[in-house]
Amino acid sequence: MKAFAPGRVNLIGDHTDYTFGLAMPMALDLGTEVTFASDPESRVIELSSSIEPDLVRLVVPVGGGVASGVACTSDELPRWGRIVAVLAELVGVGCGGKGTVTTTLPVGAGLSSSASLTVGLGLALGFSGTALELALACQQAEQAATGVKGGLLDQLAITCSEPGHGLLLDFETLGMRGVRMPKGCSVVIAHCGVTRSLVGSEYTARSNECAAAEQIIGPLRHADLHDVDRLDNPVLRKRARHVVTENRRVGEFAEARESGDLRSAGLLMNESHTSLAVDYEVSIPELDSLVASLRACPGCYGARLTGAGFGGCAVALFEREAVVLPLAGVERAWVAEASGAARLLA
Ligand code: GLA
Repeated sequence: MKAFAPGRVNLIGDHTDYTFGLAMPMALDLGTEVTFASDPESRVIELSSSIEPDLVRLVVPVGGGVASGVACTSDELPRWGRIVAVLAELVGVGCGGKGTVTTTLPVGAGLSSSASLTVGLGLALGFSGTALELALACQQAEQAATGVKGGLLDQLAITCSEPGHGLLLDFETLGMRGVRMPKGCSVVIAHCGVTRSLVGSEYTARSNECAAAEQIIGPLRHADLHDVDRLDNPVLRKRARHVVTENRRVGEFAEARESGDLRSAGLLMNESHTSLAVDYEVSIPELDSLVASLRACPGCYGARLTGAGFGGCAVALFEREAVVLPLAGVERAWVAEASGAARLLA
């Protein structure tokens, strides 16, 4: 089997998925390719990766409830091997085989290299089920392997996107709708040069702060700014304000894109960055200055950090004709094409 799973860039709606809010990512043309040839005579899965120093060697069937938690997985496995172990159990892989992983995605850049790897592995190991089921299985695998309770944004973007469209996601209903890319604009991604990982970041702290706010004012998805004002703790108030206003921005961004109002869409991206930087405190100086440089380029409608933050990439909306690479003052930037969902290639 040979599978391709794209990365994703999140156009707007960050840190909203784990409180069942809204987001609009799009799948990228960059991604992870996984090949796997199963061998009915073997009971060992052997995988190598072009970007991971360690080989994965795993005896199947993987039992013992690996999928229910990292504690059950072998300490000898590298982290990506733990993802393989959980997937092998969830998929019910019964025989061994050999495979390789290659990727065109920058790792630790906020473009979901990890979810892309997980989805690619899931497909190559023979997952059968709907795109939603694949997303949920991959979320479970990553959570069990890393111990970080990430949301569903990355996996849904990777398993459900359509070419040429952003994907408007509602994490409460798991409803989704493709929103066509307006004509005459380009999505530009730029890397701030600082890589990061969710493990060891303040991601879990933010998710806990949201949970603490919800204990007081109820689900953030249904809260408004009056509810937010009832929070006495200033930190919780800021976190909740980000989530409540970000959900509103996602809805307005979808409308602006559908009506071709790129100026409004860009302004919403700018507001989103400010909210992530000031209220949610997940930006870093390198990302702030990258966003400022992108906005200073001719033809830029708006720019924001994308993904979890703490490093990685920014995303910007540009007038198509105005994008002439390299952009002034921005070192690592490229134009992103909205690609389709993860798929089997052979
Ligand atoms: C990471 C997580 C996602 C989401 C984003 C922030 O990419 O994996 O679930 O929470 O951060 O929007």
